[in-house]
Amino acid sequence: MRTTSQSASDTLRVPGGTGRSAAITVDGQPVEAVEGESLLAALWAAGTHTLHRTARNDEPRAFLCGIGLCFDCLVTVDGQRSARACMTRVADGMAVELQRDAGWEGFGHAAA
Ligand code: FES
Repeated sequence: MRTTSQSASDTLRVPGGTGRSAAITVDGQPVEAVEGESLLAALWAAGTHTLHRTARNDEPRAFLCGIGLCFDCLVTVDGQRSARACMTRVADGMAVELQRDAGWEGFGHAAA
């Protein structure tokens, strides 16, 4: 339940974060986030809903499960490809790049 001192965006934040602001970049653009929240939550709150595109038809994909199972939230974090955004906690200074492919190399899936 939202209290009168909370904004609507505060209620979207995942409990467990430190509450400190974190300056991250997504494809080089600054994004406001909260240290300790999931990167997926930060991306979603910032309006970034297309995390990658399908290899076969170049169609936009968002996340599916939010709990580390579907691998539909793969992004590059600080140069490391295919990190699951839903399982990655935001840290100040984090540089995120959206992947333009499925990003499944190394997970036992063949490219389409
Ligand atoms: S949203 Fe499913 S693994 Fe991240």
